[in-house]
Amino acid sequence: MKHLALAGALTAITLAGAGSALAAPSVERGDYLVNTIMGCGNCHTPMGPNGPEMDKALGGRLVEDNAAFKAISSNITPGGAVAKWSDAELAKAIREGIRPDGSLIGPPMPFEVYKGISDTDLASIVMYLRTVPAVTNDPGKSEYRIPLPPAYGPPITSVADVPEGVTVEYGAYLAGPLGHCTVCHTPFDKNGMAQFDTLLGAGGNEFHGPWGTSITANITPTGLGHYSDAELKAVLTTGKRPDGSMLLPPMPVATTAAMTSDDIDALILYMRSLPPKDTPTPQ
Ligand code: HEC
Ligand code: HEC
Repeated sequence: MKHLALAGALTAITLAGAGSALAAPSVERGDYLVNTIMGCGNCHTPMGPNGPEMDKALGGRLVEDNAAFKAISSNITPGGAVAKWSDAELAKAIREGIRPDGSLIGPPMPFEVYKGISDTDLASIVMYLRTVPAVTNDPGKSEYRIPLPPAYGPPITSVADVPEGVTVEYGAYLAGPLGHCTVCHTPFDKNGMAQFDTLLGAGGNEFHGPWGTSITANITPTGLGHYSDAELKAVLTTGKRPDGSMLLPPMPVATTAAMTSDDIDALILYMRSLPPKDTPTPQ
């Protein structure tokens, strides 16, 4: 009996120890994710002539109007439709792209990578979104002229946390599921899907806007080999190359500039680890 009781006590201690080592969701983490690496506001905050209108942060706006779709991002503050959704419903919308009524959320919200958001981070994002000021804004409805798939993949029950640190693994998590760097920086196929399996990081996608045309950089060692780590870090945190040229939109420089030093280092480690690829000629 004595032995059994001792074993039980030890198990309890071990479990408590393991529990406290696990990340717990928090508003602070959600704030960091939404406002830096994930850059939800880059699509969801209205743009005025002087840049993002922060008094209407996350209130929704016209994101893209092209042949395939007119995409209008939703008001995701407590002033929008999401206010009536449960936390689980909001989480499913963000990670799987499915609203409570079963309808699919359209592009360019990057669901091909958001399916990899960990449970804890997803809970933090939802917690934070519930705390932002309610914005009264109806940005209107998107129109998709292309058929949307029935879903972005099989239902997701759980995604494990990736331990934070200056590691290739955490860099990959930042660059993929959180930051969707890989989506913009991997050549799209004819259907607008990033060709992760064959051309991860090879760049070459064109973006048009008031800045003219920008082409996403090759972020494999083929494209970034000429930078030292310090130079690459400065490019990401200042938006300026060593030759003085500024990075054009939609490269989310405000987002990378606000990230922690360790997270930038992890991104750099990850980009250095990618198999070198040549940028294909755009079709
Ligand atoms: C690249 C642009 C882009 C990014 C980045 C983005 N979104 Fe979206 N989001 C959209 C668009 C566009 C829609 C509307 C799509 C539609 O109408 O089907 C949308 C819709 C949504 C919806 C559905 C709301 C509703 O009322 O139907 C939620 C929730 C959402 N986004 C949350 C987020 C969160 C949280 C983030 C950051 C973690 C984020 N989005 C990042 C473009 C983006
Ligand atoms: C919405 C699309 C988009 C996203 C998301 C994005 N980028 Fe970019 N990125 C671009 C474009 C476009 C350029 C080229 C800008 C130019 O030509 O001035 C660029 C340029 C760069 C460069 C500069 C390379 C050089 O030529 O000097 C680096 C490095 C880079 N991105 C890394 C990243 C990382 C890391 C992330 C994720 C944190 C990221 N990008 C997310 C679109 C994007």
